[in-house]
Amino acid sequence: MLVVEKNSLTDEIEVLVEKYGKERSSLLPILQEIQRNHKYISDFAQQEIARLLDIHPVEVYSVITFYSFLNAKPKGRNIVRLCRTITCDLLGKENVVAAIERELGIKFGETTKDNRITLEYANCLGMCDQGPALLVNDKVYTELTPEKAVQILNSVR
Ligand code: FES
Repeated sequence: MLVVEKNSLTDEIEVLVEKYGKERSSLLPILQEIQRNHKYISDFAQQEIARLLDIHPVEVYSVITFYSFLNAKPKGRNIVRLCRTITCDLLGKENVVAAIERELGIKFGETTKDNRITLEYANCLGMCDQGPALLVNDKVYTELTPEKAVQILNSVR
């Protein structure tokens, strides 16, 4: 007899499939809830979601990588996203990048060792007339200078 091992994450996903249904359109709300509850969507969760929705795991992974608010890897407690789009570029983004990376000792795309901050780039934050713009979790900061960026980082650390 085949014994299928289950864990609490499987149970949680089964409840979500029950709630949202087994259609393809259920994938995004299920991913959003797993992201909200666990801060990222593990390989195991991706496999289980694919199995329960009867779709290929690559489809689950490609949706996660398409949306910047979904993560396939654990991230820091605070997500700092700097706009990398052209207007912010022209308004001095590179100097802000250098100051932030120097202050934290990590590069964009990385997380501090203490797990407090993950640095990411974002596309236009809709504040182009006040760039460079930065998003710290849900809060937007504008007209950044290297000094202002360091002050903001220190306030979230
Ligand atoms: S280009 Fe940076 S906020 Fe729009």
